[in-house]
Amino acid sequence: MEKKITLILQNEEDTINLGRLVAKYVYPNLVITLTGDLGAGKTTFVKGLALGLNIKEKVLSPTFNILKCYFNKPLNLYHIDAYRLEDANKDIGLEEFIDGDGVCAIEWPMYIDEYIPTNRLEINLTHLNNNKREALISSNIDKLNDLFEALKG
Ligand SMILES: Nc1ncnc2c1ncn2[C@@H]1O[C@H](COP(=O)(O)OP(=O)(O)OP(=O)(O)O)[C@@H](O)[C@H]1O
Ligand SMILES: [Mg+2]
Repeated sequence: MEKKITLILQNEEDTINLGRLVAKYVYPNLVITLTGDLGAGKTTFVKGLALGLNIKEKVLSPTFNILKCYFNKPLNLYHIDAYRLEDANKDIGLEEFIDGDGVCAIEWPMYIDEYIPTNRLEINLTHLNNNKREALISSNIDKLNDLFEALKG
Protein backbone atom coordinates (compact mmCIF):
# COMPACT_ATOMS: atom_id res chain seq x y z
CA MET A 1 0.00 0.00 0.00
CA GLU A 2 1.16 3.53 -0.81
CA LYS A 3 2.31 5.46 2.25
CA LYS A 4 2.74 9.20 2.22
CA ILE A 5 3.64 11.93 4.66
CA THR A 6 4.41 15.63 4.39
CA LEU A 7 6.85 17.27 6.78
CA ILE A 8 8.00 20.85 7.18
CA LEU A 9 11.76 21.15 7.60
CA GLN A 10 12.48 24.44 9.36
CA ASN A 11 16.18 24.56 8.58
CA GLU A 12 19.16 22.62 7.30
CA GLU A 13 19.47 20.74 10.57
CA ASP A 14 15.94 19.36 10.18
CA THR A 15 16.88 18.02 6.75
CA ILE A 16 20.02 16.40 8.16
CA ASN A 17 17.97 14.91 10.97
CA LEU A 18 15.47 13.50 8.49
CA GLY A 19 18.38 11.72 6.80
CA ARG A 20 19.59 10.42 10.15
CA LEU A 21 16.15 9.08 10.98
CA VAL A 22 15.68 7.42 7.60
CA ALA A 23 19.11 5.75 8.05
CA LYS A 24 17.67 3.69 10.90
CA TYR A 25 15.24 1.98 8.53
CA VAL A 26 17.27 1.42 5.38
CA TYR A 27 18.50 -1.97 4.21
CA PRO A 28 20.50 -3.50 1.34
CA ASN A 29 19.15 -2.79 -2.14
CA LEU A 30 16.83 0.04 -1.08
CA VAL A 31 16.62 2.93 -3.54
CA ILE A 32 15.82 6.43 -2.34
CA THR A 33 14.94 8.97 -5.04
CA LEU A 34 15.43 12.65 -4.24
CA THR A 35 13.61 15.22 -6.31
CA GLY A 36 13.23 18.96 -5.99
CA ASP A 37 14.74 22.13 -7.40
CA LEU A 38 18.39 23.11 -7.39
CA GLY A 39 19.37 23.79 -3.79
CA ALA A 40 16.26 22.17 -2.35
CA GLY A 41 18.36 20.06 0.02
CA LYS A 42 18.76 16.70 -1.71
CA THR A 43 22.48 16.44 -1.00
CA THR A 44 21.89 17.78 2.51
CA PHE A 45 19.52 14.88 3.12
CA VAL A 46 22.21 12.42 1.93
CA LYS A 47 24.66 14.01 4.39
CA GLY A 48 22.26 13.14 7.18
CA LEU A 49 21.74 9.66 5.79
CA ALA A 50 25.50 9.10 5.78
CA LEU A 51 25.83 10.38 9.34
CA GLY A 52 23.06 8.02 10.40
CA LEU A 53 24.89 5.12 8.73
CA ASN A 54 27.98 6.07 10.70
CA ILE A 55 29.95 7.01 7.60
CA LYS A 56 32.84 9.23 8.61
CA GLU A 57 33.73 10.47 5.16
CA LYS A 58 32.20 13.81 4.28
CA VAL A 59 29.41 13.70 1.71
CA LEU A 60 29.96 16.13 -1.11
CA SER A 61 27.72 16.80 -4.03
CA PRO A 62 28.69 14.20 -6.63
CA THR A 63 27.45 16.38 -9.50
CA PHE A 64 30.79 16.18 -11.26
CA ASN A 65 31.22 12.49 -10.53
CA ILE A 66 27.69 11.17 -11.06
CA LEU A 67 28.43 8.36 -8.59
CA LYS A 68 30.13 8.32 -5.23
CA CYS A 69 30.50 5.14 -3.17
CA TYR A 70 30.82 5.22 0.59
CA PHE A 71 32.05 1.78 1.60
CA ASN A 72 30.85 1.12 5.06
CA LYS A 73 29.77 -1.59 7.46
CA PRO A 74 27.13 -2.88 7.75
CA LEU A 75 25.77 -1.00 4.76
CA ASN A 76 27.41 0.71 1.80
CA LEU A 77 25.95 3.97 0.56
CA TYR A 78 25.87 4.75 -3.15
CA HIS A 79 25.11 8.35 -3.99
CA ILE A 80 24.13 9.08 -7.58
CA ASP A 81 23.51 12.54 -9.01
CA ALA A 82 22.09 12.09 -12.50
CA TYR A 83 21.85 15.83 -13.21
CA ARG A 84 24.50 15.70 -15.90
CA LEU A 85 22.99 12.66 -17.57
CA GLU A 86 19.96 14.55 -18.88
CA ASP A 87 21.29 14.68 -22.43
CA ALA A 88 24.05 12.11 -22.06
CA ASN A 89 24.48 8.40 -22.63
CA LYS A 90 22.93 6.83 -19.54
CA ASP A 91 24.29 3.35 -20.16
CA ILE A 92 27.29 3.72 -17.88
CA GLY A 93 26.83 0.79 -15.53
CA LEU A 94 24.81 2.38 -12.75
CA GLU A 95 22.62 -0.74 -12.42
CA GLU A 96 25.29 -2.42 -10.36
CA PHE A 97 24.84 0.24 -7.69
CA ILE A 98 21.11 0.81 -8.06
CA ASP A 99 20.44 -2.91 -7.82
CA GLY A 100 23.32 -3.43 -5.44
CA ASP A 101 24.21 -4.52 -1.94
CA GLY A 102 23.90 -1.08 -0.37
CA VAL A 103 21.40 1.72 -0.05
CA CYS A 104 21.33 3.92 -3.13
CA ALA A 105 20.30 7.59 -2.96
CA ILE A 106 19.63 9.19 -6.34
CA GLU A 107 19.35 12.91 -7.11
CA TRP A 108 17.65 13.86 -10.39
CA PRO A 109 16.24 10.31 -10.82
CA MET A 110 14.02 11.33 -13.74
CA TYR A 111 17.02 11.30 -16.05
CA ILE A 112 17.73 7.64 -15.41
CA ASP A 113 14.24 6.48 -14.60
CA GLU A 114 14.49 3.40 -16.81
CA TYR A 115 17.18 2.06 -14.45
CA ILE A 116 15.29 2.66 -11.21
CA PRO A 117 12.84 0.13 -9.77
CA THR A 118 9.31 1.38 -9.09
CA ASN A 119 9.63 0.06 -5.53
CA ARG A 120 11.47 2.96 -3.98
CA LEU A 121 11.37 5.51 -1.21
CA GLU A 122 10.57 8.88 -2.78
CA ILE A 123 11.49 12.18 -1.18
CA ASN A 124 10.50 15.41 -2.87
CA LEU A 125 11.78 18.65 -1.40
CA THR A 126 10.22 22.03 -2.12
CA HIS A 127 11.47 25.48 -1.17
CA LEU A 128 9.17 27.41 1.13
CA ASN A 129 10.05 30.86 2.43
CA ASN A 130 13.31 31.50 4.31
CA ASN A 131 15.19 28.25 4.87
CA LYS A 132 12.10 26.13 5.16
CA ARG A 133 11.46 23.15 2.97
CA GLU A 134 8.49 20.89 2.51
CA ALA A 135 9.34 17.21 2.29
CA LEU A 136 6.84 14.90 0.64
CA ILE A 137 7.86 11.36 1.48
CA SER A 138 6.14 8.40 -0.09
CA SER A 139 6.67 4.73 -0.80
CA ASN A 140 4.90 1.57 -1.86
CA ILE A 141 7.38 -0.63 0.05
CA ASP A 142 5.70 -2.54 2.88
CA LYS A 143 9.00 -3.01 4.71
CA LEU A 144 9.09 0.74 5.30
CA ASN A 145 5.92 0.85 7.41
CA ASP A 146 7.98 1.37 10.56
CA LEU A 147 9.76 4.32 8.98
CA PHE A 148 6.43 5.99 8.23
CA GLU A 149 5.25 5.31 11.78
CA ALA A 150 8.43 6.97 13.05
CA LEU A 151 7.97 9.93 10.71
CA LYS A 152 4.48 10.50 12.08
CA GLY A 153 5.81 10.66 15.64
N1 LIG B 1 15.88 23.41 5.35
C1 LIG B 1 16.95 23.23 4.58
N2 LIG B 1 17.21 21.98 4.13
C2 LIG B 1 18.28 21.76 3.34
N3 LIG B 1 19.15 22.70 2.94
C3 LIG B 1 18.94 23.95 3.38
C4 LIG B 1 17.84 24.25 4.21
N4 LIG B 1 17.89 25.57 4.47
C5 LIG B 1 18.96 26.04 3.84
N5 LIG B 1 19.60 25.09 3.19
C6 LIG B 1 20.78 25.29 2.35
O1 LIG B 1 20.37 25.05 1.01
C7 LIG B 1 21.40 24.39 0.30
C8 LIG B 1 20.93 23.04 -0.16
O2 LIG B 1 21.91 22.51 -0.96
P1 LIG B 1 21.94 21.00 -1.44
O3 LIG B 1 23.26 20.83 -2.10
O4 LIG B 1 21.57 20.08 -0.33
O5 LIG B 1 20.75 21.03 -2.50
P2 LIG B 1 20.48 19.99 -3.68
O6 LIG B 1 19.01 19.79 -3.69
O7 LIG B 1 21.34 18.81 -3.54
O8 LIG B 1 20.90 20.85 -4.96
P3 LIG B 1 21.38 20.34 -6.42
O9 LIG B 1 20.12 20.11 -7.22
O10 LIG B 1 22.16 21.49 -6.95
O11 LIG B 1 22.18 19.09 -6.25
C9 LIG B 1 22.59 24.28 1.25
O12 LIG B 1 23.43 25.39 1.06
C10 LIG B 1 21.94 24.36 2.63
O13 LIG B 1 22.78 24.89 3.61
MG1 LIG C 1 22.73 17.94 -4.80
